[in-house]
Amino acid sequence: MFGVTGDLARKKLMPAVYDLANRGLLPPAFALTGFARREWDKQDFAEVVHDSVKKYARTPWREETWEQLSAGIRFVQGTFDDPEAFAELRRTVEELDAERGTGGNHAFYLSIPPSAFPQVITQLRNSGLSDPKENTWRRVVIEKPFGDNLETADQLNQVVSDVFPPDAVFRIDHYLGKETVQNLLALRFANQLFEPIWNSQYVDHVQITMAEDIGIGGRAGYYDGIGAARDVIQNHLLQLLALTAMEEPASFGAVDLRTEKEKVLRAVALPDDLALGTARGQYAAGWRGGEHVGAYLDEEGIAQDSTTETYAAIKVNIPNRRWNGTPFYLRAGKRLGRRVTEIALVFKKAPSPYFQQIEGSDVGTNALVIRVQPDEGVTLKFGSKVPGTAMEVRDVTMDFAYGNAFTDESPEAYERLILDVLLGDPPLFPRHEEVALSWKILDPITEFWSTQGQPEQYRSGTWGPAQADQMMARDGRVWRRP
Ligand code: BG6
Repeated sequence: MFGVTGDLARKKLMPAVYDLANRGLLPPAFALTGFARREWDKQDFAEVVHDSVKKYARTPWREETWEQLSAGIRFVQGTFDDPEAFAELRRTVEELDAERGTGGNHAFYLSIPPSAFPQVITQLRNSGLSDPKENTWRRVVIEKPFGDNLETADQLNQVVSDVFPPDAVFRIDHYLGKETVQNLLALRFANQLFEPIWNSQYVDHVQITMAEDIGIGGRAGYYDGIGAARDVIQNHLLQLLALTAMEEPASFGAVDLRTEKEKVLRAVALPDDLALGTARGQYAAGWRGGEHVGAYLDEEGIAQDSTTETYAAIKVNIPNRRWNGTPFYLRAGKRLGRRVTEIALVFKKAPSPYFQQIEGSDVGTNALVIRVQPDEGVTLKFGSKVPGTAMEVRDVTMDFAYGNAFTDESPEAYERLILDVLLGDPPLFPRHEEVALSWKILDPITEFWSTQGQPEQYRSGTWGPAQADQMMARDGRVWRRP
């Protein structure tokens, strides 16, 4: 694992490895080698893993699990430009293979800034680490961002594919590892109820929301210049869109699934006027859970004139037989009212003249909401008669909550994804074509924004800039307040 001193490794990756071990899903010989610049030895690194597991693991602490796991922990100190460090890494993993009888398969997890990818990948090749010996495999795992536009994504792909064949490359979009996201496939295709109405004849529009209440934390170096659209719309939200809008794949295998997602991404059309069909904002000071919080421009490491958006909303159309006329609205933002990710299909009004005449009646704006997080589940909103003599109708909901229906807690996305890397199971990992298609959708928008100066400020703790509400209002619609 490269990048072991980073936040992601500490908060997500190491705990996920432990959770897998705890669930009995790793072979006893499994070994983890960390690579970083720090002057650590094996013991120091083991302590870091220990502390991160204690703090962030999902499953309970078990001494036996830890003993087994920690026996396979190693550390190599070095910089990415030092061939000797990679030679040392090679010696270390070969020793591990011999000592622990691992079987000799190696996965390289690059949890590092994209600017370091070319160097690390080249070193993996030059040191021979990327060459599989007979009957073993070598895999590389890369974390987003996969470039910051189509051009840089293509360059990055070139670098990776010069060294690793396509089926050895695992691109992580951790949203695809979320239980609720995988449930989209079950909801749509394991049931007969939803698919007949899953189209523009019945669906007025779709809203995909990823709201966070946190700010950028200590990530100024990564986030500034990237912004909400590149950070999460290019990957997580467009993947959610693809899974929501795609046709039923011939199978749930990687080839068929990716093919259907790509067809949707290829069909996505942007609004003619990006000034009307997109919105962006930047958080100003405000409130988060009763605590006063500062503005984006006052965060440490952010320039006073930064034009990076922390909120982005875009409207897209999918002019194919299923979706023509049903817009998809995507929005993502930091420091919003609360943390929630959901996909909402908002249905057309019922044509009944009787109910439309009733004042205040909201009947007919049914919505099917897939709550990705938190409170994972599915909600169906529909109209119901209020008890009494009048024919008064109000919205009610029918709820499925994972917490009530299943006793087992959902695994973390990274548990599933790391396990799939080790199993060599690729359906949950986007291939380069999907990444490229997503940049093709996003590039015109970010280019347009780059000519528009400062984004609108919105108060922390609210639901984003007025611009985004106006964008919806022009279409006679409103954003849901989850
Ligand atoms: C990451 C983004 O991909 O997803 C972060 O880079 C964001 O900015 C995070 O906070 C959110 O992930 P989750 O799983 O908490 O919704």
